[in-house]
Amino acid sequence: MRIDIISVAPELIRSPFEHSILKRAQTKGLAEIHFHNLRDYAVNSYGKIDDYQFGGGAGMVLMMEPIDKCISQLMSDRSYDEIIYLTPDAPVLNQGIANRLSGFENLILLTGHYKGVDQRVRDRFVTLEISIGDYVLSGGELAAAVLCDAVVRLIPGVLGDETSALSDSFQDGLLAPPVYTRPAEYDGMKVPEILLSGNFPKIEEWRHEQSVKRTLNLRPDLLDENATPSKKDS
Ligand code: ADE
Repeated sequence: MRIDIISVAPELIRSPFEHSILKRAQTKGLAEIHFHNLRDYAVNSYGKIDDYQFGGGAGMVLMMEPIDKCISQLMSDRSYDEIIYLTPDAPVLNQGIANRLSGFENLILLTGHYKGVDQRVRDRFVTLEISIGDYVLSGGELAAAVLCDAVVRLIPGVLGDETSALSDSFQDGLLAPPVYTRPAEYDGMKVPEILLSGNFPKIEEWRHEQSVKRTLNLRPDLLDENATPSKKDS
């Protein structure tokens, strides 16, 4: 998978891609990440990429032209499965969306800054809009890093043990069950007997029950959530 990240501050998010799973995915040739600095497409020699908003109001808006130039150049080299805009005013990322994106070849992630991008960018280029939660970050860069991590770890071959992604929270629409490691007893706190029994069908049953209980207690909303929103639905 190739991911092109367009940002006014790419240096903000280089680091997560140089460690752990995201790094391993690139070393194995399973993911290619390219950063593009919007300033390289500025409308003048002073590096102008943003301007005041029409109608008045605080905050600068990223202009259409630099983003158009950058995206058009990328699109002239290959076709993209989705052009994703990270923004708080969008449907919230979930595991279903991450699963779907992990099957694609080429993605563009456009990150906003300041007041966001001129609406015409969204109307012309963006095929999917994603928020990573109902709170506002200073820019979309950290959100892009979160999205990349959630997606890239799902690409087959990225995780050493394929099944470990399958047993993550949310993969079956439920929160993950509790896990324990040695020792079997610590300061009077015992690991549930069933996990020491060696009876694997029973252990699976117990894990499933625990997942359902946790989900009911902590995130009952997940039990009736099955949407994978796209921009076209909104
Ligand atoms: N940019 C600023 N806040 C964001 C959020 N919550 N999700 C995605 N992009 C953002």
